[in-house]
Parts: sequence; C-alpha cells; structure tokens
Amino acid sequence: MTESTPAPAAAPAPSVIATPAGTEIAPPSAPFTVAVIGGTGPQGKGLGYRFARVGHTVVFGSRSAEKGQAVADEVAARLAGVEGAGAVSGAANAEAAAQADVVLLAVPWDGHDELVASLPLAGKVVVSCVNPLGFDKRGAYGLVVDAGEGSAAERAQALAPEAVVVGAFHNVSAVSLWEDGLLDEDVLVVGDSVAAKQVAIELVEGVNGRRGIDAGKLRLARQLEPWTAVLISINRKYKIHSSIRITGFDH
Ligand SMILES: NC(=O)c1ccc[n+]([C@@H]2O[C@H](COP(=O)([O-])OP(=O)(O)OC[C@H]3O[C@@H](n4cnc5c(N)ncnc54)[C@H](OP(=O)(O)O)[C@@H]3O)[C@@H](O)[C@H]2O)c1
Repeated sequence: MTESTPAPAAAPAPSVIATPAGTEIAPPSAPFTVAVIGGTGPQGKGLGYRFARVGHTVVFGSRSAEKGQAVADEVAARLAGVEGAGAVSGAANAEAAAQADVVLLAVPWDGHDELVASLPLAGKVVVSCVNPLGFDKRGAYGLVVDAGEGSAAERAQALAPEAVVVGAFHNVSAVSLWEDGLLDEDVLVVGDSVAAKQVAIELVEGVNGRRGIDAGKLRLARQLEPWTAVLISINRKYKIHSSIRITGFDH
C-alpha cells in the first residue's frame, strides 16, 4: 500500500527567474497581465476567458487587431457581472505580447516558429500549450519534432532565449474551458525554471480550482504534447471531452 501525498502546496515566492540566455526576470505577481497569442482560436479564447474570470488582465492577440478586439468584446460580454473579473482587450499579437508579463502561446504548430520569432518575448514568462499534431484518415497523431529530440515548447524556448518557457494546458479541452463550472482534471506543468512554473501553476488554479502539478523539466513536453492525440481519439470514440487526472494526491 502506498501513502497518499498531500495536494501540491503553494511554494514560496521565488526572487528571480534565470533565462537560458543568462538574463534575469523579476517574477510577475498575480494578478498577471496575460497576452494570449492566437487568442481568437477556441483554446486561447477559452483560457483567456478563464484567466480574466479570476482577475487577470487579458489581451487577446491575433494577426488582426480587429479580430482580437472582437474576441475581447465577446469575452467581456460573457464576464459582465462577474465580480473581480480582469480587464480584457484585443491587439495584434506582437502588441499584445509587449503589454504582458505572461505570454500564452495558443497557436497551431504550422507557422509556430515564424510567429514566435516575431514576438517581443525577452523578459517574459511564456506558457506554451501548443500541440504538434497531425490528422489523417486514422485520426490524430503526434508529429515528431526535431527527430524526437524536441517539442513545440522547447522550440519556443530556443527562439526566445531571453524568455523562460513553460509548457501547460496541453491536455485541456477548449470546449470545457468555454463552458462554465469547475473542471475536475489536473494540468501538468513542465519547465526548467521552478519559479516560472509557479506562475503557470497559479494560472492553472484560476482555471480549474486545482493547483497545477509540477511534472518536471521542459523536455517532458515531448510526451505531453502528443498525448493530446490519445485524448482526441478517446473523445471521438466516446463523444466526450476527456482530460487527465493524476492519482496519489489527497485531493
Ligand atoms: N482546441 C483544443 O481543444 C486544444 C486543446 C489543447 C491544446 N490545444 C493547442 O492549442 C493551440 C491552439 O489551438 P486552437 O484549437 O485554438 O487553434 P486554431 O483555432 O487552429 O488557431 C488559433 C489561432 O491561431 C491563429 N493562427 C492560425 N494559423 C496561424 C499561422 N499560420 N500563424 C499565426 N497565427 C495563426 C489564428 O488567429 P488569427 O487568425 O486571429 O491570427 C487562430 O484563431 C494548438 O497548438 C493546439 O494544439 C488546443
């Protein structure tokens, strides 16, 4: 028999986040200003809605500032009357990133590198939920990135060495995010900076009321990203919006 382990507790606030380039980032404190890159898609819109609902300021980014603003207007209407909701706005992706201390990448794998390279990400905590997936007549499958030695999150980190990238929200359904009510799943957070992971873990708590789980180093995004193909397969078979839950904690 194994003893259960208490649910993950809040860690002490870190004093500094070191980037791979050797620069340092002062850890942002909540409520954050979050730029959602690709904020007009279902995943970015759903996460941005959830972040704003608990008081974070959210800028919905798009290749078109007008499209970003239209989504911000839709989310603002949804949040009318929600006590403590954060401000929402829309902007072109780069402008959104420039305004934020936390940047969520919620874009397709196609075109990912060009877009990430174009963003002002130095000094930011970057959260990637990007899943490099392929689809054919047999369903969804994980694409091999960098001959199996990489992932979307690691690619983002390589493109933005003065930012710190963490992976999170890969396995959360956009449909569930846009619906109201608590989600009962766990969100796994991976990254090489404990301090940056704390930022994502805090964002997770606002989304589903459960602390995100520190699942290890950034390279484990290589496992988390393609795992979503399995969930998509389950969803198609059982007509549900599946996610994952980790056992062994007390919660
Ligand atoms: N949908 C889900 O349930 C889900 C769940 C977990 C993770 N994810 C991951 O989250 C990411 C976003 O998912 P999604 O379903 O929201 O994606 P999506 O709708 O296909 O794309 C999101 C937004 O990205 C922008 N975009 C599209 N192609 C682009 C390109 N070539 N260059 C730059 N921007 C582009 C578009 O915004 P503009 O036209 O406004 O610029 C689009 O609205 C994906 O990597 C996906 O794997 C999705």
